[in-house]
Amino acid sequence: MRVRMVDVSHQFPGTGLLFRGLSLDLVAGDLVGLTGPSGSGKSTLLSLLAGWERPTQGQIVWDGVGSVGWVFQNPYGVPGRTALDHVALPLLAKGSTRRAANEKAVALLDRFGLSGLAERPYSALSGGEAQRLMLARAMAKSPDLLLVDEPTAQLDPAAAARVDDVLGQLANSSTIVVVATHDPRTAAACDRVVDLAGWWSGVDGGRGLRRADSGGGSGGAESGPGSVEVSE
Ligand SMILES: Nc1ncnc2c1ncn2[C@@H]1O[C@H](COP(=O)(O)OP(=O)(O)OP(=O)(O)O)[C@@H](O)[C@H]1O
Ligand SMILES: [Mg+2]
Repeated sequence: MRVRMVDVSHQFPGTGLLFRGLSLDLVAGDLVGLTGPSGSGKSTLLSLLAGWERPTQGQIVWDGVGSVGWVFQNPYGVPGRTALDHVALPLLAKGSTRRAANEKAVALLDRFGLSGLAERPYSALSGGEAQRLMLARAMAKSPDLLLVDEPTAQLDPAAAARVDDVLGQLANSSTIVVVATHDPRTAAACDRVVDLAGWWSGVDGGRGLRRADSGGGSGGAESGPGSVEVSE
């Protein structure tokens, strides 16, 4: 399973080029951070990786990516539902029995440090707990590609550190995880960082991001990944 971005450039009507000649090779187990100032195109790059936007130039090739999960910046759960239900419901939707779904949900909550909160309603969770719950919920869907936008924005340092811990645990799983973040500590939790502020300078240390010699190829993504699931 692999996602390759080849000499990708993108701009919207009314914006300049957000990035140009981006080449990036993502494989299962990768945990990649996207950094850069506000407006530099982090969320846009997530949309390109999800296949929601087509790049202005260059190609994105999804190889064996059947499902994509999103965790948006502001977690949005169902206030009266328990934490356990939030993680169990996607498993039920995929056909698990209630018992099997609950068992897997409990294991996921435990992995994310939330096992003591299984029966707590969503409305009673703190912001950091809700963020981790949404990551647990996204993992319950076992996406091939997990896109996480600003997971620690608006969290206090302790809650942000807990989210960073969880992200660190996602590395080396069978999922490709891409995290857009302003937070240097979150970026440090990733094993590779693409800085969109410095796309021209090979900030990725040559491990994936490089400057294109030319303006990139023509055309956009020919296809897309499989289903895209959203976990707000
Ligand atoms: N659909 C769109 N149409 C036109 N312009 C857009 C569209 N989506 C994003 N933009 C513009 O593209 C630029 C990059 O936006 P993007 O949301 O990717 O930035 P970002 O790096 O995620 O910023 P932030 O850190 O504030 O979340 C911004 O100037 C934004 O206004
Ligand atoms: Mg953004």
